[in-house]
Amino acid sequence: MSEPTNPGSRASLDLEAFPPDFAWGTATSAYQIEGAVTEDGRAPSIWDTFCRIPGAVDNGDHGDTACDHYHRWPEDIALMKALGTDAYRLSVAWPRIVPGGDGPVNKAGIDFYDRLVDGLLDAGITPSVTLYHWDLPQALQDRVRDSHGGWTERATAEHLAAYASVVAERLGDRVTQWATLNEPLCSGWIGHLEGRMAPGLTDITAAVRASYHLLLGHGLTTQAIRAAAPGAQVGLVTNHSTVEAASTRPEDVAAAARMDGHTNRWWLDPVYGRGFPADMRELYGVELPERQGDLETIAAPLDWHGLNYYFPVTVTDDPTGPVPYAREVRLPEVPRTGMDWQVDAGGLEALLLRLTEDYGIRKLYVTENGSAYPDTVGPDGEIHDPERTRYQEDHVAACARALRKGAPLAGYYAWSLLDNFEWAYGYDKRFGLVHVDYATQKRTVKTSGRRYADIIRAHRQAATG
Ligand code: FCB
Repeated sequence: MSEPTNPGSRASLDLEAFPPDFAWGTATSAYQIEGAVTEDGRAPSIWDTFCRIPGAVDNGDHGDTACDHYHRWPEDIALMKALGTDAYRLSVAWPRIVPGGDGPVNKAGIDFYDRLVDGLLDAGITPSVTLYHWDLPQALQDRVRDSHGGWTERATAEHLAAYASVVAERLGDRVTQWATLNEPLCSGWIGHLEGRMAPGLTDITAAVRASYHLLLGHGLTTQAIRAAAPGAQVGLVTNHSTVEAASTRPEDVAAAARMDGHTNRWWLDPVYGRGFPADMRELYGVELPERQGDLETIAAPLDWHGLNYYFPVTVTDDPTGPVPYAREVRLPEVPRTGMDWQVDAGGLEALLLRLTEDYGIRKLYVTENGSAYPDTVGPDGEIHDPERTRYQEDHVAACARALRKGAPLAGYYAWSLLDNFEWAYGYDKRFGLVHVDYATQKRTVKTSGRRYADIIRAHRQAATG
């Protein structure tokens, strides 16, 4: 953590654009880092189950041990401190707190987060707690009443709120930043329509019902957190992409509008009081499991909104393909990460401005942003990752431009603190600012991590004059 990696580029990042109290953080999620899946009363989640389906996850990987953060959290807090970050976005594992999904609370589970939060606060790091980052208790997936279990059932939204109250009651005296859900798009569409994430369904009816209940769960959880922890700052974390048409053909332009509806408007319009977009309802052709009062619940005013941004998409009309009949095209000659995701920092700026101007959001965070590249440990033991460093610099610069244009951006969380279990891609895709050797659990700060520390330090210097 010693010598600055690139002190000269402070001006190009325009760090003066960031407010003095801007929060610089890192993010992780429970299933991706904790391990200890059978410890202290934790029950299986849908991800433990999904990982056991042959072929579902690359290399047959699973989160049984992951980064062993459940045991190594003091070391991980020390790493955050060494990076100079002042905030940390974590998620709480529902199957540790209410292992059956509803019903009895597991005290040992919540004690873990109690210690973690105290450890963070002792280190001067503000926790931002996400209640649901995809690890639904398997017991709820198995409870099939009207539909396919899990998020296809209305009761799951109510159980989420009940579990959230337990967590907020216990931690709410020390935690003020709360997010209800992480990326409901991935749970809804990728988990229930594309089948590439847990629970692995490919059914438009299930997917639309799940998306509805996820957003209802968000609304109910917002109320539950506020009731349990007065003074809580409650937000929602959604992921978005800018969407371009592959050509000016009317068919492609219409395909881009559909993809925008599927990726962006479906998840934002109801939360910001506009209801579910009529064009998309018609396209999906699935009746919403609506009850009176739900839309008001879903549109409860929020204290902040979290944007997860990774890549833009360009689409062409695909009338015989899956919903929304818009196929992504691969642009030649554009930079891509190890995920094969196109790199475009301009998309982050555009989305921050859209959330500000179109949805009238008054406090924003970038709750995730980062990149995977194949890292190698050099003979000197160092991990030199110029591509990840560059990706981050370009996206921080995009935040500065959005701030200059009026986006009320209050913080940026790098995804991720550690290399971790990257869902269906397993451990091969590394997003960490800190390298993890999974055989030994040794952590090594990468060059990108050191560069992030420099940026944070330089901003502090600029802010204090
Ligand atoms: C997001 C997820 C996060 C991580 C990154 C790379 O979609 O929220 O858990 O996997 O992608």
